[in-house]
Amino acid sequence: MSNIFVIKKKINSFSNKRVRVSGDKSLSIRWVLLASLADGKSKSFNLLKSDDVKASIDAIKKLGINVKLKKNFCEINGKGLNGYKYKKNIVINAKNSGTLGRLILGLLANCDEKIKIIGDKSLSKRDFKRVTDPLKKFGVKFKLKNNKNLPLTILGSKNLKPIEYNEEKGSAQVKSSVIFAGLRTKGTTVLRAKKSRNHTELLCKYLKLPVNLSRKKNYDLIKIKKAKKIKSFNYSIPSDISSAAFFIVLTCLTENSTLTVKNVNINASRIGIIIILKKMGAKIIFRNRRFYKGEYVADIFVKSSKNLRSINCPVKLNTSSIDEFPLIFLVAAKAKGMSFFKNLSELNQKESPRLRLSSKILSLMGIKNEITSSSIKIFGNPQINIKKKIIIKNYLKDHRIFMSSVIAALTFGGVWHIHNKDSINSSFPNFLKILKEIQK
Ligand code: S3P
Repeated sequence: MSNIFVIKKKINSFSNKRVRVSGDKSLSIRWVLLASLADGKSKSFNLLKSDDVKASIDAIKKLGINVKLKKNFCEINGKGLNGYKYKKNIVINAKNSGTLGRLILGLLANCDEKIKIIGDKSLSKRDFKRVTDPLKKFGVKFKLKNNKNLPLTILGSKNLKPIEYNEEKGSAQVKSSVIFAGLRTKGTTVLRAKKSRNHTELLCKYLKLPVNLSRKKNYDLIKIKKAKKIKSFNYSIPSDISSAAFFIVLTCLTENSTLTVKNVNINASRIGIIIILKKMGAKIIFRNRRFYKGEYVADIFVKSSKNLRSINCPVKLNTSSIDEFPLIFLVAAKAKGMSFFKNLSELNQKESPRLRLSSKILSLMGIKNEITSSSIKIFGNPQINIKKKIIIKNYLKDHRIFMSSVIAALTFGGVWHIHNKDSINSSFPNFLKILKEIQK
């Protein structure tokens, strides 16, 4: 089957559609990793079955943990906090997943054999120094390609020392890795972290692990002590707002349409896109808001928006919408006026340089935009109606660039050839299936 996805016409209006998207990727990977160190069997439902999560399962299997992955549930038989078997020459392939590649380093902080971590072409270009730097301070040893990239080898220490660390990038992956290493270290690790998604802290709180959080104005103060044990735990993973976002934007940009996305995780550190879109005039409502094991969940109702306004996007919303910017830029493309997004250099550190690629895609769409290494101005056109052929090469097989391009094609018109359809397997294998349900 061709790996190029061709779209020749816009989507028709749809109404009262109800969809359920796959389980949250961040929560799925965290559940796999924490369950692997729990005492006994943990079960999850609605675990995301994507390549990033499967790579996480393969990683813990290599460390001697038994996993049953069935159609309706996943069961992990944890052997306790010190239950990993460190054989010689273990190689863990994190594939496309920065979350797995970075978080697991914290859990391996006390490994007594060298372990090699590799990844795909995209992950091998990404910065690992941001996480090995703090872990080295605990006493963990690393060898990295070019001092910052994969492949890397890690050799842990049996004599970890607690650290004080300021995490200044707003990276939840770095923060989580330090928390995991802190849970293996005697004494108190003190982490001052710029605000970012807080699933790790919430799960630790739910599991009653010794992670103490106090919120300050500009950062979170997190104190971590050595954990004695992790109780096994069952978890129904709520749906991923980053996956729901594609259909939320599809609905905003399609005339006379309504949609509900069911049972979505609406953690405050993830809903930046909703706040930004509402400021731009989108009509979005949370219904049936409820609390589930530390996280908030709701059904998200969305209606098409006629008069979208430009935005001078507040920097404080950047981390809570970081994975959604390629989509937010599409809304800016149709909004009246000039939108401005700044302090976004982190966007070029993702699976591909998303700020640069988004700018290229907007230019191909005929939308005037101006970028720097950390900002973009987008001059919206409410009448946008593309007539030409657009080819998206997506050279680093970036799942979010693929799916955002599909949404652009379905809402703005033109004939699009979007490469690397398989990239959706990283985070959202059901994406095209759900799209079909909406189109039916
Ligand atoms: C993630 C954190 C974010 C996000 C990524 C998932 C996580 O990355 O972009 O898709 O699960 O912790 P950073 O840690 O770089 O902010």
